[in-house]
Amino acid sequence: MIIRTILLTGAIMVLAACDMGPKSSYGFTLPDGNAEYGEQYFVEFRCIDCHAVAGKEYLRDGSDGIEPIMEVALGGTTTKIATYGQLVTSIINPSHKVSDEYRVTPEIEGGQSMMRNYNTIMTVDELIDIVAFVQDQYVLRPYTPSSYPVY
Ligand code: HEC
Repeated sequence: MIIRTILLTGAIMVLAACDMGPKSSYGFTLPDGNAEYGEQYFVEFRCIDCHAVAGKEYLRDGSDGIEPIMEVALGGTTTKIATYGQLVTSIINPSHKVSDEYRVTPEIEGGQSMMRNYNTIMTVDELIDIVAFVQDQYVLRPYTPSSYPVY
């Protein structure tokens, strides 16, 4: 039992240490973005080629004559809204976390994302506005605590 506690404490210390290392996202904040501009950029950068936004179906109704490539859903009801950090990472480093479904090279473990890389064409202002727009599309589902019968 004591050994287990020591191991556990060690593990927690290691995890906590990682969290605050030079690569930690601690202290990362973006200025507030403008979601309205973000929606325009979302269309201009053709994010709509691959992303269907819940409640914003008009963004890709085909009126521009361009066929969507795929339909990766963004937005909607969720129990946990992605943080700015997570959204920014998804955009500037899409291969950071790639789902099996959307790998360019499914045969390669941890392969590259099919998502385009925008890092040399998107300004930081555009990124901030896009993130504000995407984050606004999520609706938080209130957390319902489980109720346990009283014995
Ligand atoms: C060529 C297709 C394609 C384009 C264009 C594209 N994406 Fe993606 N995006 C994907 C795929 C596929 C994923 C799923 C993650 C993965 O497996 O790579 C994804 C994931 C994401 C995620 C994370 C979603 C989640 O639930 O974790 C965000 C946010 C996102 N994209 C935003 C954007 C934005 C903003 C743009 C435009 C600037 C864009 N994407 C353009 C294909 C695309």
